[in-house]
Amino acid sequence: MAQSYHEKIKIPNGVEYDQPVGLFINNEFVASKDGAKFEVINPATEKSITHVYEAKEADVDAAVEAATLAFESGPWSRMAPHDRGRLLYKLADLMEEHLPVLSSIETYDTGKAIAIARGDVGAAIATIRYYAGWADKIHGKVVDTDAGSFNYTIQEPIGVCGQIVPWNFPLIMFCWKVGPALATGNTVVLKSAEQTPLSSLYLASLIKQTGFPPGVVNVISGFGAIAGAAIAEHPKIHKVAFTGSTVVGRSIMRAAANSNLKKVTLELGGKSPNIIFNDADIEKAVEWVNFGIFFNGGQVCAAGSRVYVQEGVYDKVVAAFKKRAEMNVVGDPFDDATFQGAQVSQRQFERILEYVDVGQTEGATIITGGSRQGTNGYFIKPTVFADVTEDMRIMKEEIFGPVCAIAKFKDLDDVVAKANATLYGLASAVHTRDLNTAIEAAKRIRAGSVWVNIYNAIHWAVPFGGYNESGNGRECGKEALRNYTQIKSVRINLN
Ligand code: NAI
Ligand code: MG
Repeated sequence: MAQSYHEKIKIPNGVEYDQPVGLFINNEFVASKDGAKFEVINPATEKSITHVYEAKEADVDAAVEAATLAFESGPWSRMAPHDRGRLLYKLADLMEEHLPVLSSIETYDTGKAIAIARGDVGAAIATIRYYAGWADKIHGKVVDTDAGSFNYTIQEPIGVCGQIVPWNFPLIMFCWKVGPALATGNTVVLKSAEQTPLSSLYLASLIKQTGFPPGVVNVISGFGAIAGAAIAEHPKIHKVAFTGSTVVGRSIMRAAANSNLKKVTLELGGKSPNIIFNDADIEKAVEWVNFGIFFNGGQVCAAGSRVYVQEGVYDKVVAAFKKRAEMNVVGDPFDDATFQGAQVSQRQFERILEYVDVGQTEGATIITGGSRQGTNGYFIKPTVFADVTEDMRIMKEEIFGPVCAIAKFKDLDDVVAKANATLYGLASAVHTRDLNTAIEAAKRIRAGSVWVNIYNAIHWAVPFGGYNESGNGRECGKEALRNYTQIKSVRINLN
């Protein structure tokens, strides 16, 4: 009997399902060429869930080969755009049917609260539907130059796209990347993060069930330095999209430059300012500050990790925020009431606690939290540092955990200068009742997103991406289609 490369898994919330553990290449789950596997951990218990096959260079080659064939020949390249759209709609419907299992897997593997995982799956489905709608609305232009010529442009797919995603929102990141790539007619080799391979493999099984031709989407599990690097360097991959750390983003750009100059889009880190003015609705603003930093355990590229409060309301906000942070339910990710689950891995857990030490050594004041919660699983108490100064590392470096830094500001000029004093530029927010203040701040803050009286207001239809070292290119919205198409100009001599 042929190996199936699936395993029966029972999730602690009672959900039982078939987990693919192979590499998904050419619509089949297969073993890695050298048989290597790696362990998948449940961060809420630190216990093993299963082992999955690990892709190395030769497996990346096989996936790229499948994607190349699918792109160049066969049903995919000849498929009408509206039929590509139909497949994407069908995939979204299947995901909806499988929402309970997808969200349970996501929680099991990442440690995130189940309520958040359900929201993630909803957003992932919405993203696929959004790009399904674009599939037959992508077209070129006719350009008038002179009576003797006829010119037109075609917006063509790029080819095989390498997509490297992180562990904080595995399903959303998968769909942000695969959605626009498929709507525009590309094929894909996607590598999940080594901390969280399970939901991507399950989604791969739904892609097969949907009826996508073999090789259109290939999903591999593996480590960054091996499989990720092989994607970034691959001569037959013509575009790479990456979400993760700035340091790896740099290495991907270098690899692209050193190999075939593949097109690169990067969505990297941030240290985003969340700003409260004296005239804000304080109760609501505190709610958004809390959500801004503690949502998904602070493991959000856009996290509002620098909170700037105007002098007139500083003491009031600090007191209210402390109270609010202490109300967050931290614990069992499968409990519906939980807001904050476990951090994703031991490495991230230790890194975050190190930053808590750094903040204390630098002289900032912890007003709440500051330590591990419990003795089992990677749980950290929501932590708030007050009186943080601009020179402190906790004000400058991305912590990527439930740790917030608060500081005071005088006026708009002062806070714009502080907000922009960063190497990053991903997101930001202002809380004010004054429209002029909101518009002026939105104009002057150097970041890809500015939210007003809300936070983490990311939406699949609205472009998202970074200024400065937070990356380049925009995901979501119509903008993302540009990442996956190139323009061909055809000029015909009519004389
Ligand atoms: P990372 O950047 O190492 O990992 C993200 C993805 O890149 C994973 O799939 C990983 O396997 C892959 N990768 C790693 N090294 C690679 C290489 N040399 N070539 C190609 N791919 C490679 O991030 P990590 O270590 O998991 O987290 C470290 C920090 O990165 C976090 O504390 C956070 O500050 C930041 N980060 C930012 C994310 C975002 O959403 N922008 C997501 C995850 C991490
Ligand atoms: Mg895991």
